[in-house]
Amino acid sequence: MPAERNGGTAVCPGSYDPVTNGHLDIIGRASNVFDHVVVGVVNQPVRKQKTLFDASERVAFIAEQVAEYGNVQVKPFDTLLVDFAREHGAKAIVKGLRAISDFEYEFEMNQLNRKMAPDIESIYFMAAPEYSFLSSSGIKELAMFGGDISGLVPDRVAARLQEELKR
Ligand code: PNS
Repeated sequence: MPAERNGGTAVCPGSYDPVTNGHLDIIGRASNVFDHVVVGVVNQPVRKQKTLFDASERVAFIAEQVAEYGNVQVKPFDTLLVDFAREHGAKAIVKGLRAISDFEYEFEMNQLNRKMAPDIESIYFMAAPEYSFLSSSGIKELAMFGGDISGLVPDRVAARLQEELKR
């Protein structure tokens, strides 16, 4: 019998440049709680440098991994996050929290998003211990210097990182 879900729609937003197995763990857990999950891939993040992968490739990396869930869609967006959430009828934004170092940034984002859309609740899933050190930027650094990233990102992502970054 499929697990009962009754949380409506949630958005899991991020730059996902590229998606890691830590992100996929959060998305999978959200798909167990919410009826429907929309993964929102920021087209061009404002606070970050140009992304390594374009939005369509970042979307494709995730879509391939979440196809099995049946209740997860992946879409690029280039609007305010709360507008994207509203467009999809989402009542929650779900994000992962790793260490205390994530807290300050997420607290600020939370306040901004709450100010604009008090009706949309942000919910934080604590990272699983095996992924609590994992970040897209750390993965890119390892890949750049030939480090072993197997088990940390999907195989296709690892292969593309090798193509793009190996020196
Ligand atoms: O750290 P990330 O994963 O790149 O975060 C991206 C995102 C959109 C979740 C974060 O920047 C956020 O919550 N922004 C709220 C303000 C907003 O809507 N900005 C426009 C999209 S960058």
